[in-house]
Amino acid sequence: MAYNDFSMDNHWLPFTPNRQFRKEPRVFVAAEGMHFTTHDGKKVIDGISSLWCVGAGHNRKPINEAIKKQLDTLDYATAFQASNDQAFKAAEMIASMAPGDLNKVLFCNSGSEAADTSLKVALAYHRARGEGHRNVFIGREKGYHGVGFGGMSVGGIPANRKVYGTSLLPRVDHLRFIHDPAGNAYIHNQEPVWQEDILLELENRILPLHDPSNVAAIIVEPVAGSAGWYLPPQGYLKRLREICDKHGILLIFDEVITGFGRMGTNFAADYYGVVPDMLNFAKCVTNGVIPLGGVICRDKLYDAMMKTEAPEHVIEFFHGYTYSGHPVACAAAIATLNLYKQENLFARAGEMGKLLGDAFHSTFKGLPNVIGIRSLGLAAAVELAPIAGTPGKRAFDIYLDCFHHGALVRPAGDVVVIAPPYVVEKSHIDQLVNTLADSIRKNA
Ligand SMILES: Cc1ncc(COP(=O)(O)O)c(C=O)c1O
Repeated sequence: MAYNDFSMDNHWLPFTPNRQFRKEPRVFVAAEGMHFTTHDGKKVIDGISSLWCVGAGHNRKPINEAIKKQLDTLDYATAFQASNDQAFKAAEMIASMAPGDLNKVLFCNSGSEAADTSLKVALAYHRARGEGHRNVFIGREKGYHGVGFGGMSVGGIPANRKVYGTSLLPRVDHLRFIHDPAGNAYIHNQEPVWQEDILLELENRILPLHDPSNVAAIIVEPVAGSAGWYLPPQGYLKRLREICDKHGILLIFDEVITGFGRMGTNFAADYYGVVPDMLNFAKCVTNGVIPLGGVICRDKLYDAMMKTEAPEHVIEFFHGYTYSGHPVACAAAIATLNLYKQENLFARAGEMGKLLGDAFHSTFKGLPNVIGIRSLGLAAAVELAPIAGTPGKRAFDIYLDCFHHGALVRPAGDVVVIAPPYVVEKSHIDQLVNTLADSIRKNA
Protein backbone atom coordinates (compact mmCIF):
# COMPACT_ATOMS: atom_id res chain seq x y z
CA MET A 1 0.00 0.00 0.00
CA ALA A 2 1.34 3.48 -0.78
CA TYR A 3 0.30 7.01 0.00
CA ASN A 4 1.38 9.82 -2.29
CA ASP A 5 4.54 10.50 -0.34
CA PHE A 6 5.37 7.28 1.53
CA SER A 7 5.13 3.54 1.34
CA MET A 8 3.67 1.44 4.14
CA ASP A 9 5.93 -1.51 3.50
CA ASN A 10 8.66 -0.99 6.08
CA HIS A 11 7.35 0.40 9.35
CA TRP A 12 6.32 -2.51 11.65
CA LEU A 13 3.94 -0.93 14.15
CA PRO A 14 4.33 -1.64 17.90
CA PHE A 15 1.44 -3.08 19.96
CA THR A 16 -0.77 -2.81 16.86
CA PRO A 17 -2.64 -5.37 14.76
CA ASN A 18 -0.57 -4.65 11.63
CA ARG A 19 -2.73 -6.63 9.21
CA GLN A 20 -5.83 -4.69 10.20
CA PHE A 21 -3.90 -1.42 10.19
CA ARG A 22 -2.76 -1.87 6.60
CA LYS A 23 -6.37 -2.24 5.49
CA GLU A 24 -7.43 0.84 7.40
CA PRO A 25 -4.42 3.08 8.16
CA ARG A 26 -4.61 5.76 10.81
CA VAL A 27 -1.77 8.19 10.17
CA PHE A 28 -1.29 11.50 11.96
CA VAL A 29 0.59 14.29 10.25
CA ALA A 30 0.03 17.29 12.55
CA ALA A 31 -1.25 18.18 16.02
CA GLU A 32 -2.28 21.30 17.90
CA GLY A 33 -3.72 21.58 21.41
CA MET A 34 -6.30 18.80 21.82
CA HIS A 35 -6.37 17.72 18.18
CA PHE A 36 -4.55 15.81 15.47
CA THR A 37 -4.82 16.11 11.73
CA THR A 38 -4.72 12.83 9.85
CA HIS A 39 -3.08 12.14 6.52
CA ASP A 40 -6.46 12.39 4.83
CA GLY A 41 -7.20 15.74 6.47
CA LYS A 42 -9.51 14.58 9.28
CA LYS A 43 -9.50 16.26 12.70
CA VAL A 44 -9.25 13.78 15.61
CA ILE A 45 -9.49 14.73 19.28
CA ASP A 46 -6.75 13.22 21.46
CA GLY A 47 -8.72 11.50 24.22
CA ILE A 48 -5.71 9.64 25.61
CA SER A 49 -2.97 12.30 25.78
CA SER A 50 -1.28 10.13 23.15
CA LEU A 51 -0.55 7.17 25.47
CA TRP A 52 -0.74 9.28 28.64
CA CYS A 53 2.13 11.57 27.58
CA VAL A 54 0.81 14.93 26.44
CA GLY A 55 -0.36 16.61 29.65
CA ALA A 56 -0.03 20.18 28.39
CA GLY A 57 -1.62 19.53 24.99
CA HIS A 58 0.14 19.32 21.64
CA ASN A 59 2.62 21.67 20.02
CA ARG A 60 3.33 23.83 23.05
CA LYS A 61 5.61 26.67 22.04
CA PRO A 62 7.63 27.02 25.31
CA ILE A 63 8.68 23.37 25.04
CA ASN A 64 9.44 23.62 21.32
CA GLU A 65 11.46 26.79 21.85
CA ALA A 66 13.48 25.25 24.68
CA ILE A 67 14.33 22.28 22.46
CA LYS A 68 15.39 24.50 19.55
CA LYS A 69 17.53 26.64 21.85
CA GLN A 70 19.18 23.57 23.35
CA LEU A 71 19.90 22.10 19.93
CA ASP A 72 21.73 25.29 18.99
CA THR A 73 23.68 25.33 22.28
CA LEU A 74 24.65 21.77 23.22
CA ASP A 75 23.15 19.11 20.98
CA TYR A 76 24.56 16.10 22.79
CA ALA A 77 27.43 15.24 25.08
CA THR A 78 28.71 11.93 26.34
CA ALA A 79 26.71 10.66 29.30
CA PHE A 80 29.53 8.63 30.88
CA GLN A 81 32.45 10.10 32.85
CA ALA A 82 31.04 13.61 32.19
CA SER A 83 27.59 15.18 31.97
CA ASN A 84 25.70 18.29 30.88
CA ASP A 85 24.11 21.26 32.64
CA GLN A 86 20.54 20.40 31.57
CA ALA A 87 20.70 16.96 33.19
CA PHE A 88 21.62 18.46 36.59
CA LYS A 89 18.90 21.12 36.32
CA ALA A 90 16.23 18.63 35.28
CA ALA A 91 17.22 16.21 38.05
CA GLU A 92 17.03 19.03 40.62
CA MET A 93 13.54 20.02 39.46
CA ILE A 94 12.29 16.44 39.43
CA ALA A 95 13.73 15.69 42.88
CA SER A 96 12.18 18.88 44.26
CA MET A 97 8.77 17.72 43.04
CA ALA A 98 9.10 14.20 44.50
CA PRO A 99 7.96 13.45 48.05
CA GLY A 100 10.15 12.52 51.02
CA ASP A 101 13.81 11.88 50.42
CA LEU A 102 13.36 10.70 46.85
CA ASN A 103 16.31 12.82 45.76
CA LYS A 104 18.57 10.94 43.39
CA VAL A 105 17.52 10.70 39.75
CA LEU A 106 18.87 8.04 37.38
CA PHE A 107 17.85 9.05 33.87
CA CYS A 108 16.97 6.70 31.03
CA ASN A 109 14.80 7.03 27.93
CA SER A 110 11.56 5.18 28.55
CA GLY A 111 9.29 3.54 31.07
CA SER A 112 10.62 0.11 30.12
CA GLU A 113 14.17 1.18 30.84
CA ALA A 114 13.02 2.77 34.10
CA ALA A 115 11.52 -0.57 35.19
CA ASP A 116 14.69 -2.52 34.44
CA THR A 117 16.85 0.19 36.00
CA SER A 118 14.85 0.12 39.23
CA LEU A 119 15.10 -3.68 39.49
CA LYS A 120 18.85 -3.49 38.96
CA VAL A 121 19.21 -0.76 41.60
CA ALA A 122 17.34 -3.00 44.04
CA LEU A 123 19.75 -5.90 43.50
CA ALA A 124 22.84 -3.69 43.60
CA TYR A 125 21.67 -1.89 46.75
CA HIS A 126 21.06 -5.10 48.66
CA ARG A 127 24.39 -6.50 47.55
CA ALA A 128 26.19 -3.32 48.60
CA ARG A 129 24.74 -3.85 52.08
CA GLY A 130 25.86 -7.47 52.20
CA GLU A 131 22.41 -8.89 51.37
CA GLY A 132 23.10 -10.15 47.87
CA HIS A 133 20.82 -13.12 48.53
CA ARG A 134 17.81 -10.81 48.21
CA ASN A 135 16.92 -11.51 44.59
CA VAL A 136 13.20 -12.29 44.51
CA PHE A 137 10.96 -9.69 42.87
CA ILE A 138 7.25 -9.39 43.40
CA GLY A 139 5.01 -7.70 40.85
CA ARG A 140 1.25 -7.89 40.46
CA GLU A 141 -1.18 -9.63 38.12
CA LYS A 142 -2.07 -7.34 35.22
CA GLY A 143 0.76 -4.96 36.13
CA TYR A 144 2.54 -3.30 33.22
CA HIS A 145 6.16 -2.26 33.47
CA GLY A 146 7.13 -2.11 29.82
CA VAL A 147 8.69 -4.60 27.49
CA GLY A 148 12.24 -5.23 28.74
CA PHE A 149 12.84 -8.69 30.15
CA GLY A 150 12.87 -7.35 33.72
CA GLY A 151 9.72 -5.28 33.34
CA MET A 152 7.95 -8.09 31.50
CA SER A 153 8.87 -10.58 34.21
CA VAL A 154 7.41 -8.52 37.05
CA GLY A 155 4.55 -7.42 34.78
CA GLY A 156 1.39 -9.45 34.82
CA ILE A 157 -0.37 -8.97 31.49
CA PRO A 158 -0.63 -12.53 30.13
CA ALA A 159 -0.44 -11.68 26.41
CA ASN A 160 2.82 -9.78 26.95
CA ARG A 161 4.42 -12.74 28.72
CA LYS A 162 3.13 -15.92 27.15
CA VAL A 163 5.63 -16.14 24.28
CA TYR A 164 8.74 -15.69 26.40
CA GLY A 165 8.57 -18.66 28.75
CA THR A 166 11.79 -19.42 30.57
CA SER A 167 13.46 -16.29 29.20
CA LEU A 168 11.58 -14.33 31.85
CA LEU A 169 13.45 -13.68 35.11
CA PRO A 170 13.35 -16.58 37.58
CA ARG A 171 12.40 -15.93 41.20
CA VAL A 172 9.49 -13.61 40.46
CA ASP A 173 6.07 -13.83 42.07
CA HIS A 174 2.91 -11.80 41.64
CA LEU A 175 0.40 -10.22 43.98
CA ARG A 176 -3.27 -10.76 43.30
CA PHE A 177 -5.00 -8.33 41.00
CA ILE A 178 -6.80 -5.40 42.62
CA HIS A 179 -10.23 -5.72 41.08
CA ASP A 180 -13.43 -6.78 42.76
CA PRO A 181 -16.15 -6.82 40.07
CA ALA A 182 -18.79 -7.99 42.52
CA GLY A 183 -18.31 -5.26 45.11
CA ASN A 184 -16.60 -2.42 43.27
CA ALA A 185 -17.61 -2.46 39.61
CA TYR A 186 -18.59 1.22 39.74
CA ILE A 187 -16.07 3.53 41.37
CA HIS A 188 -16.13 7.33 41.10
CA ASN A 189 -13.28 9.32 42.66
CA GLN A 190 -13.23 7.15 45.75
CA GLU A 191 -11.06 4.34 47.05
CA PRO A 192 -12.63 0.91 46.60
CA VAL A 193 -13.50 -0.68 49.93
CA TRP A 194 -12.98 -4.45 50.01
CA GLN A 195 -14.62 -6.94 52.32
CA GLU A 196 -11.44 -8.99 52.45
CA ASP A 197 -7.81 -7.92 52.95
CA ILE A 198 -6.06 -8.90 49.73
CA LEU A 199 -2.60 -8.26 51.15
CA LEU A 200 -3.04 -11.15 53.58
CA GLU A 201 -2.02 -13.37 50.68
CA LEU A 202 1.31 -11.54 50.48
CA GLU A 203 1.89 -11.90 54.20
CA ASN A 204 0.60 -15.42 54.63
CA ARG A 205 1.57 -17.14 51.40
CA ILE A 206 3.94 -15.29 49.05
CA LEU A 207 6.47 -13.97 51.58
CA PRO A 208 6.71 -17.18 53.64
CA LEU A 209 7.07 -19.19 50.41
CA HIS A 210 10.18 -17.26 49.32
CA ASP A 211 11.18 -16.17 52.83
CA PRO A 212 10.97 -12.40 53.22
CA SER A 213 14.74 -12.17 53.74
CA ASN A 214 15.19 -13.20 50.08
CA VAL A 215 12.87 -10.58 48.62
CA ALA A 216 14.59 -7.61 46.95
CA ALA A 217 11.62 -5.46 45.94
CA ILE A 218 7.92 -5.22 45.31
CA ILE A 219 6.96 -3.19 42.24
CA VAL A 220 3.45 -1.90 41.57
CA GLU A 221 1.70 0.77 39.61
CA PRO A 222 -0.19 2.76 42.27
CA VAL A 223 -3.15 2.74 39.87
CA ALA A 224 -2.98 0.00 37.23
CA GLY A 225 -2.99 2.05 34.04
CA SER A 226 -2.34 -0.08 30.97
CA ALA A 227 -4.62 -2.88 32.17
CA GLY A 228 -7.55 -0.43 32.19
CA TRP A 229 -7.37 2.03 35.12
CA TYR A 230 -7.89 -0.20 38.15
CA LEU A 231 -7.69 1.53 41.53
CA PRO A 232 -6.05 0.14 44.66
CA PRO A 233 -8.27 -0.85 47.58
CA GLN A 234 -8.54 1.64 50.42
CA GLY A 235 -5.37 1.57 52.54
CA TYR A 236 -3.64 -0.92 50.21
CA LEU A 237 -0.54 1.13 49.35
CA LYS A 238 0.03 2.22 52.96
CA ARG A 239 -0.12 -1.37 54.11
CA LEU A 240 2.19 -2.46 51.32
CA ARG A 241 4.65 0.17 52.57
CA GLU A 242 4.38 -1.19 56.12
CA ILE A 243 4.92 -4.78 55.01
CA CYS A 244 7.99 -3.78 52.98
CA ASP A 245 9.42 -1.83 55.94
CA LYS A 246 8.84 -4.74 58.29
CA HIS A 247 10.89 -7.09 56.09
CA GLY A 248 13.54 -4.74 54.61
CA ILE A 249 11.99 -5.05 51.14
CA LEU A 250 12.22 -2.12 48.73
CA LEU A 251 8.97 -0.68 47.42
CA ILE A 252 8.98 0.58 43.82
CA PHE A 253 6.14 2.68 42.43
CA ASP A 254 5.93 2.62 38.67
CA GLU A 255 4.49 6.09 38.04
CA VAL A 256 5.10 6.18 34.30
CA ILE A 257 1.39 6.94 33.87
CA THR A 258 0.42 8.41 37.25
CA GLY A 259 3.47 10.69 37.56
CA PHE A 260 3.44 14.39 36.74
CA GLY A 261 -0.15 15.37 37.23
CA ARG A 262 -2.54 12.63 36.08
CA MET A 263 -3.90 12.26 39.63
CA GLY A 264 -4.19 16.02 40.21
CA THR A 265 -0.97 15.85 42.28
CA ASN A 266 2.72 15.66 41.37
CA PHE A 267 2.70 11.89 41.82
CA ALA A 268 0.31 9.16 42.94
CA ALA A 269 2.70 8.81 45.90
CA ASP A 270 1.46 12.26 47.00
CA TYR A 271 -2.15 11.39 46.31
CA TYR A 272 -1.97 8.29 48.50
CA GLY A 273 0.50 9.70 51.05
CA VAL A 274 2.98 6.85 50.61
CA VAL A 275 6.68 7.35 49.82
CA PRO A 276 8.21 4.45 47.87
CA ASP A 277 11.94 3.67 47.83
CA MET A 278 12.06 4.22 44.08
CA LEU A 279 9.68 6.02 41.78
CA ASN A 280 9.78 5.35 38.02
CA PHE A 281 8.71 8.06 35.59
CA ALA A 282 8.62 8.80 31.82
CA LYS A 283 5.93 10.07 29.42
CA CYS A 284 4.50 13.36 30.82
CA VAL A 285 7.92 14.53 32.05
CA THR A 286 8.59 15.93 28.55
CA ASN A 287 4.95 16.20 27.45
CA GLY A 288 5.80 13.23 25.23
CA VAL A 289 7.81 15.43 22.91
CA ILE A 290 11.20 13.75 23.40
CA PRO A 291 11.86 10.37 25.04
CA LEU A 292 12.97 10.65 28.66
CA GLY A 293 12.47 8.39 31.65
CA GLY A 294 14.05 7.86 34.99
CA VAL A 295 14.08 6.39 38.47
CA ILE A 296 14.00 8.66 41.51
CA CYS A 297 15.75 6.90 44.40
CA ARG A 298 15.70 7.58 48.10
CA ASP A 299 18.93 8.94 49.53
CA LYS A 300 19.64 5.70 51.37
CA LEU A 301 19.99 3.78 48.10
CA TYR A 302 22.55 6.17 46.70
CA ASP A 303 24.39 6.44 50.01
CA ALA A 304 24.68 2.67 50.38
CA MET A 305 26.14 2.34 46.89
CA MET A 306 28.66 5.14 47.51
CA LYS A 307 29.81 3.51 50.75
CA THR A 308 32.28 1.19 49.12
CA GLU A 309 35.83 0.15 49.81
CA ALA A 310 36.66 0.35 46.09
CA PRO A 311 39.15 3.04 44.98
CA GLU A 312 37.62 6.30 43.74
CA HIS A 313 38.21 5.69 40.05
CA VAL A 314 35.92 2.64 40.19
CA ILE A 315 32.32 3.02 39.00
CA GLU A 316 29.88 2.35 41.85
CA PHE A 317 26.93 1.20 39.70
CA PHE A 318 27.66 -0.44 36.35
CA HIS A 319 24.55 0.75 34.57
CA GLY A 320 23.48 3.56 32.23
CA TYR A 321 22.40 4.42 28.71
CA THR A 322 24.20 6.44 26.04
CA TYR A 323 21.28 8.85 26.22
CA SER A 324 20.87 8.98 30.03
CA GLY A 325 20.23 12.66 30.74
CA HIS A 326 20.33 13.71 27.07
CA PRO A 327 20.60 17.52 27.11
CA VAL A 328 17.78 18.09 24.62
CA ALA A 329 15.42 15.72 26.45
CA CYS A 330 16.31 17.36 29.76
CA ALA A 331 15.78 20.85 28.32
CA ALA A 332 12.35 19.63 27.15
CA ALA A 333 11.64 18.31 30.66
CA ILE A 334 12.59 21.60 32.32
CA ALA A 335 10.36 23.58 29.94
CA THR A 336 7.51 21.08 30.38
CA LEU A 337 7.64 21.09 34.18
CA ASN A 338 7.79 24.91 34.18
CA LEU A 339 4.78 25.03 31.88
CA TYR A 340 2.78 22.66 34.10
CA LYS A 341 3.54 24.95 37.04
CA GLN A 342 2.84 28.24 35.25
CA GLU A 343 -0.55 27.01 34.04
CA ASN A 344 -1.33 25.14 37.26
CA LEU A 345 -2.12 22.12 35.12
CA PHE A 346 -1.96 19.40 37.80
CA ALA A 347 -4.73 21.07 39.80
CA ARG A 348 -6.64 21.51 36.58
CA ALA A 349 -6.24 17.78 35.85
CA GLY A 350 -7.83 17.04 39.24
CA GLU A 351 -10.74 19.40 38.59
CA MET A 352 -11.41 18.24 35.03
CA GLY A 353 -11.11 14.64 36.24
CA LYS A 354 -14.21 15.12 38.36
CA LEU A 355 -16.14 16.29 35.28
CA LEU A 356 -14.83 13.34 33.26
CA GLY A 357 -15.84 10.90 35.99
CA ASP A 358 -19.30 12.48 36.33
CA ALA A 359 -19.81 12.24 32.57
CA PHE A 360 -18.69 8.59 32.48
CA HIS A 361 -20.98 7.48 35.27
CA SER A 362 -24.04 9.45 34.16
CA THR A 363 -23.68 8.54 30.47
CA PHE A 364 -22.48 4.93 30.38
CA LYS A 365 -24.17 3.27 33.33
CA GLY A 366 -26.96 1.08 31.98
CA LEU A 367 -25.76 1.09 28.34
CA PRO A 368 -25.62 -2.34 26.69
CA ASN A 369 -22.70 -4.55 27.81
CA VAL A 370 -21.36 -2.01 30.32
CA ILE A 371 -20.26 -3.99 33.37
CA GLY A 372 -18.12 -1.46 35.20
CA ILE A 373 -16.95 2.16 35.29
CA ARG A 374 -13.89 3.48 37.15
CA SER A 375 -12.77 7.09 37.41
CA LEU A 376 -10.01 8.77 39.37
CA GLY A 377 -7.76 11.70 38.55
CA LEU A 378 -8.04 12.72 34.93
CA ALA A 379 -8.74 9.22 33.63
CA ALA A 380 -11.77 7.01 33.41
CA ALA A 381 -12.50 3.53 32.14
CA VAL A 382 -15.63 1.77 31.00
CA GLU A 383 -15.53 -2.02 31.17
CA LEU A 384 -17.53 -4.02 28.64
CA ALA A 385 -18.70 -7.61 28.55
CA PRO A 386 -16.51 -9.43 26.02
CA ILE A 387 -18.01 -10.96 22.91
CA ALA A 388 -18.10 -14.70 23.64
CA GLY A 389 -15.02 -16.39 22.15
CA THR A 390 -13.33 -13.17 20.93
CA PRO A 391 -12.01 -11.25 23.92
CA GLY A 392 -10.95 -7.69 23.13
CA LYS A 393 -12.96 -7.45 19.91
CA ARG A 394 -15.79 -5.35 21.31
CA ALA A 395 -13.45 -2.68 22.68
CA PHE A 396 -11.34 -2.70 19.51
CA ASP A 397 -14.42 -2.25 17.30
CA ILE A 398 -15.53 0.61 19.52
CA TYR A 399 -12.07 2.16 19.28
CA LEU A 400 -12.25 2.01 15.46
CA ASP A 401 -15.73 3.45 15.39
CA CYS A 402 -14.72 6.33 17.69
CA PHE A 403 -11.74 7.02 15.44
CA HIS A 404 -14.02 7.19 12.38
CA HIS A 405 -16.04 9.74 14.31
CA GLY A 406 -13.02 11.87 15.17
CA ALA A 407 -12.12 10.65 18.69
CA LEU A 408 -9.00 8.78 19.84
CA VAL A 409 -9.79 6.50 22.79
CA ARG A 410 -7.78 3.57 24.18
CA PRO A 411 -8.88 -0.07 24.12
CA ALA A 412 -7.30 -2.31 26.78
CA GLY A 413 -8.75 -5.80 26.60
CA ASP A 414 -12.48 -5.13 26.84
CA VAL A 415 -12.01 -1.84 28.67
CA VAL A 416 -12.07 1.56 26.94
CA VAL A 417 -10.10 4.33 28.62
CA ILE A 418 -10.17 8.09 28.21
CA ALA A 419 -7.32 10.13 29.73
CA PRO A 420 -7.16 13.48 27.96
CA PRO A 421 -4.50 16.20 28.22
CA TYR A 422 -4.82 18.39 31.33
CA VAL A 423 -5.83 21.35 29.13
CA VAL A 424 -9.08 19.56 28.21
CA GLU A 425 -12.28 21.67 28.24
CA LYS A 426 -15.75 20.52 29.21
CA SER A 427 -16.85 20.63 25.56
CA HIS A 428 -14.05 18.17 24.71
CA ILE A 429 -15.15 15.82 27.48
CA ASP A 430 -18.72 15.98 26.18
CA GLN A 431 -17.55 15.19 22.66
CA LEU A 432 -15.39 12.26 23.78
CA VAL A 433 -18.03 10.76 26.06
CA ASN A 434 -20.88 11.20 23.57
CA THR A 435 -18.86 9.67 20.73
CA LEU A 436 -17.96 6.72 22.93
CA ALA A 437 -21.56 6.28 24.11
CA ASP A 438 -22.79 6.16 20.50
CA SER A 439 -20.17 3.55 19.66
CA ILE A 440 -21.06 1.42 22.69
CA ARG A 441 -24.70 1.45 21.56
CA LYS A 442 -23.78 0.63 17.95
CA ASN A 443 -21.60 -2.29 19.08
CA ALA A 444 -24.25 -3.81 21.34
C1 LIG B 1 3.29 1.86 34.26
C2 LIG B 1 4.13 1.75 33.02
N1 LIG B 1 5.39 1.36 33.12
C3 LIG B 1 6.19 1.26 32.05
C4 LIG B 1 5.71 1.56 30.80
C5 LIG B 1 6.59 1.40 29.61
O1 LIG B 1 6.95 2.64 29.12
P1 LIG B 1 7.63 2.76 27.67
O2 LIG B 1 6.59 2.39 26.67
O3 LIG B 1 8.03 4.20 27.63
O4 LIG B 1 8.79 1.85 27.65
C6 LIG B 1 4.39 1.99 30.65
C7 LIG B 1 3.85 2.33 29.32
O5 LIG B 1 2.69 2.57 29.14
C8 LIG B 1 3.57 2.06 31.79
O6 LIG B 1 2.29 2.43 31.70
